[in-house]
Amino acid sequence: MSPQAKRSSVIHTSIPDAGSAIDRNIPDFPIAQLSDEEKYFRTYKAPPYLEEIEDEVRKFIDYHATHTGKKVALITSGGTTVPLENNTVRFIDNFSAGTRGATSAEYFLENGYAVIFLYREFSLLPYSRHYSHTTNCFLDYMTESNNKIEINPDFADEMLMILRKYKKAKDSNSLLVIPFTTVNQYLYTLRSIAILLQKVGSKALFFLAAAVSDFFLPQSRMPQHKIQSQSTGKLIIDLEQVPKFLRRLVDNWAPSGMIVSFKLETDSSILIDKAKTALDRYQHQLVIGNLLQTRKKEVVIVASNDQSHWIKLTDEEVKENMEIESLIVPEVAEHHEKWISNHIKKEQESH
Ligand code: PMT
Repeated sequence: MSPQAKRSSVIHTSIPDAGSAIDRNIPDFPIAQLSDEEKYFRTYKAPPYLEEIEDEVRKFIDYHATHTGKKVALITSGGTTVPLENNTVRFIDNFSAGTRGATSAEYFLENGYAVIFLYREFSLLPYSRHYSHTTNCFLDYMTESNNKIEINPDFADEMLMILRKYKKAKDSNSLLVIPFTTVNQYLYTLRSIAILLQKVGSKALFFLAAAVSDFFLPQSRMPQHKIQSQSTGKLIIDLEQVPKFLRRLVDNWAPSGMIVSFKLETDSSILIDKAKTALDRYQHQLVIGNLLQTRKKEVVIVASNDQSHWIKLTDEEVKENMEIESLIVPEVAEHHEKWISNHIKKEQESH
């Protein structure tokens, strides 16, 4: 007997219920409020190149889903700018050089991930970071011999190692680099990539190391042209709060991916509490806390089960130029493995 045949009558959901359709005793629902994030995307335009980026990202994810089966890490890196004029001469920026993101990207690649590197244009990039923003001029890495340019032998061994890793990442199509500059470009691109990453489910890892502006100037109040000197001798800028997108990411854009956010503070006494509050508020999996002053040699990893522990480089390790990301990334990858196994278990149980 088919399931329908058991029912005494057939249900048609498309037919209005005449009995209660115009029941005036039922109070009106309050008007549906748009969330701050939805309002944001309705108000601000997507960058004109977004579809192009989506095509590239889709191909990259499809390639790894079909051919390599690699886990995919989306790493965000660098600061975002907040333009103050439409024809932008001035903008607000922050300190982030993208060291955390670019360095972590290299270690994720070494740990077998495919990496989408969403970075602030002109901030540090994986591999080239070793030479691009140093206080040494890049020409110092070269010498001339018999009318030809050669790599200065003092740097050749190290450069060869980095070149090999870079080529490996490129030849295996494991690194996709996507730029942003403004906070608006960042938010739109993050949303698009997160939605596309749903294809790899729990194999997606979000490593949100970018320092995203908390305030911005809405387009409606942005002057078209360069702000002129003020007769008051002062310039007062009235900024709005950028909505926190982490909750949207966790609930809607990336429901199966593992999400790691960062918490930056300058006061050590509040760091762990702030990290725990973020986990509580956004319900994601890990927060990596760091202090502006010591971020290159110590971080605290706070997990959703309330466990936290510090990773610290010893003075010796700092002297030997060890990078703290070489310790952070394998630990995050271990958490991610558990996340994936739990998802597989849950799927098996539900079948
Ligand atoms: O680039 P470096 O010089 O190496 O520096 C690295 C770093 C210090 C920037 C990095 O390690 C770091 O801490 N990055 C996050 C800094 C930060 O912006 O923290 P926050 O407290 O403002 O935001 C916390 C989280 O909320 C972030 O993961 C962000 O993705 C998220 N967020 C932020 C703003 C916003 N509107 N919506 C968000 O969801």
